[in-house]
Amino acid sequence: CGIVGYVGPQDARDVVLEGLRRLEYRGYDSAGIAVVADGELSTAKKAGKLANLEKVLAERPLPAATVGIGHTRWATHGGPTDRNAHPHVSDDGTVAVIHNGIIENFAALRSELEADGVEFGSETDTEVAAHLLARAYAALPEAEGRLAEAMRVICRRLEGAFTLVATAVTEPDTLVAARRSSPLVVGVGDGEYFLGSDVAAFIGHTREARELGQDQVVEIDRSRGLTVTDFSGERAEPKAYTVDWDAAAAEKGGYDWFMLKEIAEQPQAIADTLLGRLGENGELVLDEVRLSDQELRDIDKIFVVACGTAFHAGLIAKYAIEHWTRIPVEVEVASEFRYRDPVLDRSTLVVVISQSGETMDTLMALRHARDQKARVLAICNANGSTIPRESDAVLYTHAGPEIAVASTKGFLTQVVACYLVGLFLAQVRGMKFEDEVAAIVEDLRRLPEAVAQVLTGMDQVRELGRTLADSDTILFLGRHVGFPVAMEGALKLKELAYIHAEGFAAGELKHGPIAVVDQGTPVVVIVPSPRSRESVHGKVVSNIQEVRARGARTIVIAEEGDEDVVPYADHLIRVPRTPTLMAPVVTTVPLQVLACEIADTRGYDVDQPRNLAKSVTVE
Ligand code: G6P
Repeated sequence: CGIVGYVGPQDARDVVLEGLRRLEYRGYDSAGIAVVADGELSTAKKAGKLANLEKVLAERPLPAATVGIGHTRWATHGGPTDRNAHPHVSDDGTVAVIHNGIIENFAALRSELEADGVEFGSETDTEVAAHLLARAYAALPEAEGRLAEAMRVICRRLEGAFTLVATAVTEPDTLVAARRSSPLVVGVGDGEYFLGSDVAAFIGHTREARELGQDQVVEIDRSRGLTVTDFSGERAEPKAYTVDWDAAAAEKGGYDWFMLKEIAEQPQAIADTLLGRLGENGELVLDEVRLSDQELRDIDKIFVVACGTAFHAGLIAKYAIEHWTRIPVEVEVASEFRYRDPVLDRSTLVVVISQSGETMDTLMALRHARDQKARVLAICNANGSTIPRESDAVLYTHAGPEIAVASTKGFLTQVVACYLVGLFLAQVRGMKFEDEVAAIVEDLRRLPEAVAQVLTGMDQVRELGRTLADSDTILFLGRHVGFPVAMEGALKLKELAYIHAEGFAAGELKHGPIAVVDQGTPVVVIVPSPRSRESVHGKVVSNIQEVRARGARTIVIAEEGDEDVVPYADHLIRVPRTPTLMAPVVTTVPLQVLACEIADTRGYDVDQPRNLAKSVTVE
């Protein structure tokens, strides 16, 4: 979910709505806003995308106000209806609350409140917080900081993960928020304050931000300013930082979709990931990896843990890191990792990958790893987010804001960051491939240019996409690093075009999946370089023939100069020659464009696919 709050001289309605527009990628099942003006609390909320709320507001505007909160929801408890939309107002009408996360003991709290005569208007866990807050508030004497104190009182009773933001009808100059494990940042302007799930909420107004810690309550008051405490009321100092994204980076800039813009930004994004990290003599400079050389030498096992697209980056990382360092690497989806009791100790390195740095599944996996004394290295894009803060070390991808829900530049830069980690380990440990590191570093330097080259040939892919828009199923095949690329291509298609798609290991095809190949079934094949080891290339060329013999329409992604594939390709997409392990950086790009074009042709919202959210902050 996306959360916005504002206190200051501007019209809170406009600031909050603008913030919601920028945060809509965090959820779009419903949207709502509440303001306090003229001694009254007014709310408006509506199921569906923000545009629906905007329509309601155009017909029935809320009063102008200097304090306001807004919410854009990704539904967990209770369907995406008007009633379940936030803000939720307490039964006595005194406070309004918005929430991100899950209050795990909400059923018990709800029964308690119902026994007390409260009638619930929604099925959400959030409403519990609204009624509890109103009760705690009423029980406190009138004094400065009363709403904040009431918030602390209820937070001590809440279990689970949550960000809560509240406003009270009697305190028109104050906003109060709390966070446990869910994201919340404060923006500080000139005589005004902003709250947001992430900095995109206020980047158009200020770049000065404050990071809130775990289990903290922040009170923002127009006259008293900013006060941060823990849940027991102990004062805390929030960490100040300056956001290095500018507002323009979060605009579409002439593209139809954010996704298209982000695809086009990939050469620059990769260059930014590499910036300052490749030394002049071909050595890697990763000052941010705050693990001592000894700790890095002691590592005897690596886990890569992530979700969704980031998980696919991890799968690619395995090939590269094992090859370069000879350290065994396991890759696992974060939501499974901690529940199967993985074997971890001091000499285990856990690499967590997350674009947003807020994915709850990944955060919980990271906490589990740290509890077991493993070292945790985060690969992240969003500065100052929770996952890097809780890790032993972090390598930021510096890809700039990624707004489209389906990850593109986030993914490619994660892959590149994984190469850096692998090579860095090889360098520090003086392993077998140490001599090669310098040469590989040169290959890395060439990646932005290679991606730029792929992008110049995308018209052909778009044309192909339009002819595939009616497909029921599209299969993706690859071997070696092409296998995770196939999985990523399939995921993109599912996410954006809602077409059934699967990515298979090309060699596994004959053991089952080939049965689904029928006359005309589109099969996308990611072909490894003809220079790849043990003739994986030749095997994939055979696999293309196998599916073609069963009627498949083959879409082949192959290197420039690979003539072996020509006779079997119904459609041939060329990518520049790239070292085998780095091929995913170029072969993924046409798959992103393909999914985007198919979705667009089918008339779907490419940036905000149904049922999804950019960062999922519940488990
Ligand atoms: C969500 C998004 C996916 C993304 C995944 C992991 O499910 O819809 O596109 O890959 O989260 O996100 P992260 O921010 O942790 O990389």
